[in-house]
Amino acid sequence: MKQRLSGTLKRIKEKGNYRTLKYIKPISATKILYNSKEYLNLCSNSYLSLHMHPDIINAAKRAVDEYGAGTCSSRSVSGSIDIYEGLENEIAKFKGYRKGLIFSNGYMANIGIISTLTEKEDVIFSDELNHSSLIDSMRLSHAKKMIYKHRDVNDLERKVKKEKAKGKKFVVTESVFSMDGDIAPIKDIYKLKEQYGFHVIIDEAHATGVFGKKGRGVEELSGLAGRMDVHMATFGKALGSFGAFVLADEVVIEYLVNRARTFMYTTALPASSLAASMAALNLIKADTSFKKELWGNIHYMRNNLVKAGFDLKDSEGPIVPIVVGEDKKTLAMQEILMKKGLFLQAIRPPTVPEGTSRLRLTIVRGFTKDDMDYAMEAFIDTGKKMGLI
Ligand SMILES: Cc1ncc(COP(=O)(O)O)c(C=O)c1O
Repeated sequence: MKQRLSGTLKRIKEKGNYRTLKYIKPISATKILYNSKEYLNLCSNSYLSLHMHPDIINAAKRAVDEYGAGTCSSRSVSGSIDIYEGLENEIAKFKGYRKGLIFSNGYMANIGIISTLTEKEDVIFSDELNHSSLIDSMRLSHAKKMIYKHRDVNDLERKVKKEKAKGKKFVVTESVFSMDGDIAPIKDIYKLKEQYGFHVIIDEAHATGVFGKKGRGVEELSGLAGRMDVHMATFGKALGSFGAFVLADEVVIEYLVNRARTFMYTTALPASSLAASMAALNLIKADTSFKKELWGNIHYMRNNLVKAGFDLKDSEGPIVPIVVGEDKKTLAMQEILMKKGLFLQAIRPPTVPEGTSRLRLTIVRGFTKDDMDYAMEAFIDTGKKMGLI
């Protein structure tokens, strides 16, 4: 076996697609230490920079004192600590849904939803750039799978119309695509839903806390808060904590509690994560200035990068894809930027399609103007050297 694995690893290396882990230590919400050198973190999903907010840290500390470090068993087997109930109710209320269920992380939530809710005679229509967790969940489902072109409602409609399945139809999409930063046409998908009667499963992992007046996501931005059949998002990105939630009506949640294997057969989250998520939710409900500050940074950086000639594709929010193309060239650009004290990763296949390797820059609320000016100058300088602008 070792020989086979080594052979594959060698080919991955030759292609410039090899990954190593970088061990870092955060020194603030936006700065990290790596190999004893300070870097500006340009790849965090903590869009509101809340993971270092004192209210959230203190909530986690208090929960450890009260509940201990771990839960050490699954929720269904050994009781569900009471923090779960309040957080599930609050997050459902915030997003406009009837009921919520917390999963240990977004990957497990997504794996649980599609594989559990769909059956053999059903058909799943999935955006071609959906996240790996959604893809893996579909692989576990016995339903038929149809891939529609990225954000293309005409293609979706054509496929839905043509499909004569005996079972139910499901449309699955991210609301903000994690590697492209563009937004799904939720309003149009919803119109089709009303016309054709399919069910929508939406992943708002990267939209929660960022889009919509109150930070409730792209659903809110589209005037459709609480209107999808199944809504999923995480606490581990803009909310600065860890874990994920699924929102739906009572029957769907009851079914997931009874059937979703990634819910049933895993140790529950520690109280510290739940308490931190609750504190984060309270913060964003009480104070919209976090979002305002984030969007100030987003506009500032995006405008300047576009002015400098970068093609930011259709991205709209904090996720900025700088598509380089070849794996090795993307790695080379990453290395130059790392030397300049900027920490970010070359995103390569299979995370993104072949030939579209990129640097995925994320803009967060905690950046100062100096941070942003420094990063942009480095990007522009490097972009010119690499022939991107
Ligand atoms: C769109 C999307 N869905 C789900 C997940 C999984 O969430 P988690 O990191 O909590 O497992 C991620 C990323 O990590 C994501 O980008």
